[in-house]
Amino acid sequence: MDKIVVLDFGSQYSHLICRRIRDFAVYAELVPYDISMDDLLKLEPKGIIFSGGPSSVYNDDAPIPDNKIFHSSLPILGICYGSHGDEAEQIPNDFEIIGHTENSKAAAIANKQRTVFGIQFHPEVVHTERGTDVLKNFVLNTCQVEQGWTMEQFVETTIEKISKMEGNVLCGVSGGVDSTVASLLIHRAIGDRLKAVFVDNGLLRLNESYEIEEIFTKNFEMNFEKINAQEDFLIKLRNESDPEKKRKIIGEEFIRIFSKFAEENGPFKYLAQGTLYPDVIESGVSKGPAAVIKSHHNVGGIPDSLKLEILEPLRDLYKDEVRKVGKILGIPEKILNRHPFPGPGLAVRIIGKVTEKKLEIAKIASSIVEDELQKAGFYDNVWQAYALVGDDKAVGVVGDERKYGQIVMVRVVDSIDAMTADWTRLPNGVLEKISNRITNEIEDVTWVSYVISSKPPATIEPQ
Ligand code: XMP
Repeated sequence: MDKIVVLDFGSQYSHLICRRIRDFAVYAELVPYDISMDDLLKLEPKGIIFSGGPSSVYNDDAPIPDNKIFHSSLPILGICYGSHGDEAEQIPNDFEIIGHTENSKAAAIANKQRTVFGIQFHPEVVHTERGTDVLKNFVLNTCQVEQGWTMEQFVETTIEKISKMEGNVLCGVSGGVDSTVASLLIHRAIGDRLKAVFVDNGLLRLNESYEIEEIFTKNFEMNFEKINAQEDFLIKLRNESDPEKKRKIIGEEFIRIFSKFAEENGPFKYLAQGTLYPDVIESGVSKGPAAVIKSHHNVGGIPDSLKLEILEPLRDLYKDEVRKVGKILGIPEKILNRHPFPGPGLAVRIIGKVTEKKLEIAKIASSIVEDELQKAGFYDNVWQAYALVGDDKAVGVVGDERKYGQIVMVRVVDSIDAMTADWTRLPNGVLEKISNRITNEIEDVTWVSYVISSKPPATIEPQ
C-alpha cells in the first residue's frame, strides 16, 4: 500500500498530520526525525513530511534529519520549524517564494522541479483556511499516492491475519471503545478461541457493569466472563486517600485478579490489548506529558510466567479510525460515542477515601450530567463530562430544615487529544438543570459547583 512518512521533529501536531492524511484514505506513518535514509527507504514512502517543531535552527542541539534525505528524489513537505521569532529572510537559490503573509515574506517556498516545499504555517490544524487542500494537494497530486487505506479493507485483512493464528486468546475488556473493538475483531476471526474477561471493580459508571455484560453476551455472543470483584477493590481501597496510591492499588488488584483468571482458565497463547497508534509511537523529540503526570494504568504488568504473547490488532489506528472499525463491526453507538473513562474509574473522581456513599453520589450525579448534556445536544460535542465528590460539606436548606450535605463538582471539558483541555462554557440553563436535579435527586447533596479550570494548569481528572 502507498504511504506517506512523517518525520517527527517534536511538533504537538505530529500525530494530527498523520490523522489528516489518513482522512484522504492514505496510510501515513510517524517516525523519529533522526531516522536514517536507509531505514526510511525500507518503509517505501511515496513522499515525506517534516512535522515541524519548537526548536530554533540556531540551537546547537536543534533536531536535524539525515542529510541524505534532502538529496533523495522523494517529494518533501517541510512544515513550520523554528520558534516563534525565526523567519526565513533569504531562501536558497534554487527555491522560489510561492506564498507570503503580513509577517513572513517567505511563508511558502518551493523547488517545483525537485518537488520540495517549505511552509511557515500549519496546514493540519482545522482553523488554517484551506490547510486540508494544501496537504491533499501534496499527498495526492505531488506524491501521486493511491488511496488504499480504508477501514473496510483494514477489517478484512486484520480478520484474515488473525484467523491464521493458532492458540487461544485472552482479552481484558472494560466496556471502553478500544478493548471492545479489539475483542470483536478477534472474535470475528477466531470465535470462541477468544475469551473476553471483564473485571467489575465497582468503580464504573451507573449501570455500566450490567450493560457491558448484556452487550458482550447478547449482542456479540462472545465467550465472555464477568468477574465480580467489587468488594475486593473496595476493601483494598478502604483506608487510602492518596491519589497515586489509590491508582497503584487498583492497578495491582486488577493484575492480581486478571492473572489468577489466566492461570486457572488457560492455557492462553496471546493476551490481546486495545493499544492505539499514539500509545505505540512516541514523539521523536519528547515524550508526551500525560505519561509522567499520572501513572495511567491499562493492562500491563501481567506476570512473565504466564508466557503470553501480546496481540494488538489496533496498534496502527487512531481513535477515530477505531470508531469507524467499530461501526463496521456493528458495535452500538452508545459504546462508540461514549466519553473516555479513566482505567481506575470513579476512584480518581472521588477525592479522599473511596466510600460506598461517595461512590453512589458520583455515579448518580454523573449520570445526571450525561443525561442533561444528551438532552441539550452537548454530549457528543464535549470531550468529557462527569461529577466528582470529595469530603467537603456545605449548609443547605431542605424544606424548613437546615442540612449539612456534600458538595458535588461538575466537570465538563472540551479537548481534541486530552493533552490540553478547556472548560466548556455551557449555557446557564443547562447548568441550572444539572444543579437542580443533583440536589433534588441525591439526598446527601446540598451544593453543586462547576469547575472552571482548564488543562493546564489543572488536569481533566481531579486525581
Ligand atoms: P488527565 O486527568 O491526566 O487525563 O488530564 C487525561 C485523559 O486520560 C484519562 N485518564 C486515564 N485513562 N487510565 C486511562 O486509561 C488512567 O489511569 C487514566 N487517568 C486519566 C482522562 O479521563 C482523560 O481523558
